[in-house]
Amino acid sequence: MGPVPLCLLFSLMALGVALGVSQDEDEYTWPQRKVPLVLAERTIHLSRPEFSAAAPSELRGACGIECQSQLPRPSATDLQRLLAYETVYENGTRTLTQVSLRGLEEARGDERRNGSRVRRRREVYGTDSRFTITDRQFSTSYPFSTSVKVSTGCSGILVSPRHVLTAAHCIHDGRDYRQGARKLRTQVPKGWLQGGAGGLAVDYDYALLELKRPHKQKFMDLGIVPSVRELPASRIHFSGFDDDRPGQLVYRFCSVSEESGDLLYQHCDTQPGSSGSGVYVRLKEPDKRHWKRKIIGVFSGHHWLDVNGVQQDYNVAVRITPAKYAQICHWVHGDSSQCRTA
Ligand SMILES: *[C@@H]1O[C@H](CO)[C@@H](O)[C@H](O)[C@H]1NC(C)=O
Ligand SMILES: *[C@@H]1O[C@H](CO)[C@@H](O)[C@H](O)[C@H]1NC(C)=O
Repeated sequence: MGPVPLCLLFSLMALGVALGVSQDEDEYTWPQRKVPLVLAERTIHLSRPEFSAAAPSELRGACGIECQSQLPRPSATDLQRLLAYETVYENGTRTLTQVSLRGLEEARGDERRNGSRVRRRREVYGTDSRFTITDRQFSTSYPFSTSVKVSTGCSGILVSPRHVLTAAHCIHDGRDYRQGARKLRTQVPKGWLQGGAGGLAVDYDYALLELKRPHKQKFMDLGIVPSVRELPASRIHFSGFDDDRPGQLVYRFCSVSEESGDLLYQHCDTQPGSSGSGVYVRLKEPDKRHWKRKIIGVFSGHHWLDVNGVQQDYNVAVRITPAKYAQICHWVHGDSSQCRTA
């Protein structure tokens, strides 16, 4: 092996800091959560999509932080409507599947609708910066190896040997599927497809793609955390293919500044192209010996949000709630009874 370039050493050291462990972190483990059951009730054939939507661009008009905090918690009926989903097959045909939810109340427990008002005694704000993962050996190693570039110009993350989780807006603009989504098998929640009513659409900005052939890479599991700001490091991580660094995987981490039941607001450094990246945190397994990274959200992108009547920009990630977890599990396994706890 030749000399290691200095810049690489530097970024490795920086990563070492990013992945560092504090004493608090050592005590906190992945919460054990009950997850509802998503059942497919009825599948209807729809017309073929035209795949006429242009490439993704910046999203506007999302429900702001106060707006989110005032949204009523969706009823079980609303949630069933939002979690109904479309499937587009490789051959261009499309179906709509209506779902029912079981065990929702039990699973909801401490799920919160309102923004977190919790202030931690000691707030840890990481340095917001991006690291290009240039070393091939590094970029082909876990967790970076789970990042996938999506043909529509977004990023995604491997969640099974055959599935990639990404943002719905990378696949569908709210009216039609994007051209680049042709010949992919994809599933998108109705919550996104019905458009921006009441700002709910961003809450459902996630979609699942099925690969034609299984890959051999390690994938990342999904996880649920009721509050990121209450985690010891209150820090999220994600890697994607930012447009300004073509062909390179870009990793970053930052603190979450605000959160609602469905969204995480942060100021991680990002560029278009990183939308759809899997947002993960690393916590100890309940046995307290092993660390595990799990995907707790999907990066939606840069949004202008109304905050006390003033437009402010935030980077927004969709949070994986127990109901979304069950829906994605149902998509991956064809049966969500395999994932009753997260
Ligand atoms: C398209 O593919 C789906 C899933 O494989 C299949 O069920 C359907 O019959 C196919 N439709 C046509 C018209 O080929
Ligand atoms: C959420 O906020 C609303 C209005 O601001 C309030 O009425 C409600 O009690 C809050 N719910 C929780 C669980 O804190």
